[in-house]
Amino acid sequence: MIQFLLNNTPIEVQECSPSLTILDWLRTKKGKVGTKEGCATGDCGACTILVGEERINANGQTSWQYKTMNSCLLLLGNAHAKHIVTVEAVTTGLYPNLTDLHPVQRALVECHGSQCGFCTPGIIMSLLALYINEPTYPGKKAVIHALGGNLCRCTGYSPILLAAEKAYSYERKAEPYSAMAAQFKASLNTQYDGDIPFLKNGPRKFYLPQTAQQLVELKALYPYAHLVAGGTDFAIELSQNMLLPDVIISLSQVKEFCTLADNNGELHIGAALPYSQFVEVFYNHYPESKELFERLGSSQVRNSGTLGGSIGNASPIGDPAPLLIALNASMDLLSSAGTRTIKVADYFIDYKKTVLKSDEVISKFTIPKRPESLKLACHKISKRFEDDISTVCLVLAIEHSQNMITQARCAMGGMAAIPKRAQHIEQKLISQSLQVSSFIDAATAINSDFTPMSDVRSSAHYRTTVSKNLLQRIGIEFCEPQARNNNNIAITRISHASL
Ligand SMILES: Cc1cc2nc3c(=O)[nH]c(=O)nc-3n(C[C@H](O)[C@H](O)[C@H](O)COP(=O)(O)OP(=O)(O)OC[C@H]3O[C@@H](n4cnc5c(N)ncnc54)[C@H](O)[C@@H]3O)c2cc1C
Ligand code: FES
Ligand code: FES
Repeated sequence: MIQFLLNNTPIEVQECSPSLTILDWLRTKKGKVGTKEGCATGDCGACTILVGEERINANGQTSWQYKTMNSCLLLLGNAHAKHIVTVEAVTTGLYPNLTDLHPVQRALVECHGSQCGFCTPGIIMSLLALYINEPTYPGKKAVIHALGGNLCRCTGYSPILLAAEKAYSYERKAEPYSAMAAQFKASLNTQYDGDIPFLKNGPRKFYLPQTAQQLVELKALYPYAHLVAGGTDFAIELSQNMLLPDVIISLSQVKEFCTLADNNGELHIGAALPYSQFVEVFYNHYPESKELFERLGSSQVRNSGTLGGSIGNASPIGDPAPLLIALNASMDLLSSAGTRTIKVADYFIDYKKTVLKSDEVISKFTIPKRPESLKLACHKISKRFEDDISTVCLVLAIEHSQNMITQARCAMGGMAAIPKRAQHIEQKLISQSLQVSSFIDAATAINSDFTPMSDVRSSAHYRTTVSKNLLQRIGIEFCEPQARNNNNIAITRISHASL
């Protein structure tokens, strides 16, 4: 059985399809149709809900944090012990007056931020999360960031952005959800007997192990079970490819997989820890990685998606892999035989083929302490700035001494069947002087490292050319940062002119 709180109602579910999403459960089993289905692939945000989770700080104090997620990507079983808040709970009572509405709803009405209204429930939930988590208006940039995963096809975004600001001009409404959740959690602790939470539907099962030991035992019992963490890739397999797994094991609540440690600059990131829970620590040491993590999907995707899911999915266009490879990160693979550690760079074999054995699970990533002379550049080329997969992702890390490049690790996504190091480029950089011409020269090795393909995202020619241009750009960023600041537009023109 799984237990969670839906708005203010405690829920227990046991008999249910293990692959049911929260969106389908809300709409088909609970009649809560305020949450809309637009795309069912995480791209439109119409299905956005708030998910509350209990957090315990270093002093042992607990609090509830509310984040947006796409309910079309979230498996129902992953809701165990959480608080699901839907648009129906934002304002209660029949036929409320305008002034009775929650400030974000009232502002959206007053600013004419809705026309057909299909996107509106999702936009309300994203604005509500911002309102709850930011006590004062955080500025337009933060609003745009919060709405990066919400599409509106008719209104245009100006009235919506205005509404986000206007919501803060009304009397502030206290957040009522944490108190409900704390009460629910207290009752859950007394009822929950420590068994592994599960769902079943005939022979089909969903398990939510809470510890690594439980996970390993389940994996031994069901060697061909499908693993899921945040579900942002897996749920698409279910809805688009009609995958119908018999057994699903979720890693999302395995406590050893959800840890984060900064050991004097060496980062240890649990494989099932969502992006939004570790990126700030990552930025403390590698602020350049913002370019990738801030643009990885949307807030909703970053609140669910994990590093284990990205690397486990082994997509050639996932953004974290080039970063982890360039930083020489390693990963722990857990099985009943114990844990083995490998370099992320050695994980990928061929398209979607990896060295992961059938009884293994990725448990943790270790990112080495930043070397003192390290220069790092991360670039993502995609058609849309937000919520779009990379056409090309290039990460270059170099170390230098006395104006000479002593080490180079360059990794790229979108250029081959796997995320891959550019070893010819690296060799051309090592022992060269730290000047722009070294990077332009190294870029000529691109054809020795990669033979990219043409697909819907771009042609092979575009991929090769943009990669060369990025290397030139990185040379300017590393060696002539002042020139880059003064000539930002000129550099951009160089990139596009030569395509
Ligand atoms: C709208 C949208 C936008 C996106 N944008 C981006 C983007 O800009 N950049 C980007 O890189 N990605 C993007 N993604 C892809 C996705 O969000 C990421 O790959 C994410 O990190 C997947 O993590 P997850 O926990 O949700 O994986 P899941 O969907 O839970 O799992 C994915 C796969 O990995 C396996 N797996 C999960 N955890 C483990 C583990 N610990 N060990 C072994 N196998 C495991 C699962 O079995 C499954 O096959 C996007 C996805 C969506 C839906
Ligand atoms: S229905 Fe479009 S993001 Fe979920
Ligand atoms: S108001 Fe119609 S999609 Fe946004």
